[in-house]
Amino acid sequence: MHDDRQEQKRSGIADSLLMQMFGRPKSLLGRLGGFILARTKRDFISWAIDLLDVRPDETVLEVGFGPGVSIEILAAMMPTGYVAGVDASQEMVEQARARNAKAIEAGSVQLHYGSVEALPFADDTFDKALAINSMQVWSDAIVGLREMRRVMKVGGRMALGFTRQSGQSRTGLPETIAAAGFTEVHLVETEQGFCAIATK
Ligand SMILES: C[S@@+](CC[C@H](N)C(=O)[O-])C[C@H]1O[C@@H](n2cnc3c(N)ncnc32)[C@H](O)[C@@H]1O
Repeated sequence: MHDDRQEQKRSGIADSLLMQMFGRPKSLLGRLGGFILARTKRDFISWAIDLLDVRPDETVLEVGFGPGVSIEILAAMMPTGYVAGVDASQEMVEQARARNAKAIEAGSVQLHYGSVEALPFADDTFDKALAINSMQVWSDAIVGLREMRRVMKVGGRMALGFTRQSGQSRTGLPETIAAAGFTEVHLVETEQGFCAIATK
């Protein structure tokens, strides 16, 4: 019994450190987490973005952009388009703004501090929407997905990518996405993880 309590305490501390580093990065650990994320996931991020099939003049939203590598890739693919992002970590907003300073200055990228539960955009704004390794740490996935759907245009496509280490299960995921109102929900696999694709 005593051992069980110690084990629970240890795993609670580990979860809280991981959350500070990667889940909703903050303080020094969060800054370090951002640097690690920026160096380790580029291939997976590019793969997930390709599934969105973005055109150069589209409008794209990313929720939970972390250090902003995906924003950088998207902005380079969309010379006449517009990329907006929302992240709930002030640390990540700072890192991503630094990484995308030129595009922000040019007006083709805007990055906001905020939460998926209350996106600062009008209904039917975006052609495409993306979230990578983020939904599994939202406090309510359905509320967040409904809010993403609200700001997407009818017929718009969403990609939710998860690496193997994300902890997100495939089981029940299509049903959760469909419950938020999306259609044509399907999963695509790669060696590094999987991506759920859906349409508003
Ligand atoms: C594991 S990191 C992934 C970062 C980036 N997408 C990547 O793949 O490198 C999760 C990100 O989701 C953000 N996040 C967590 N909860 C959020 C919420 N409710 N709304 C918006 N962003 C959130 C975190 O701040 C963090 O930047």
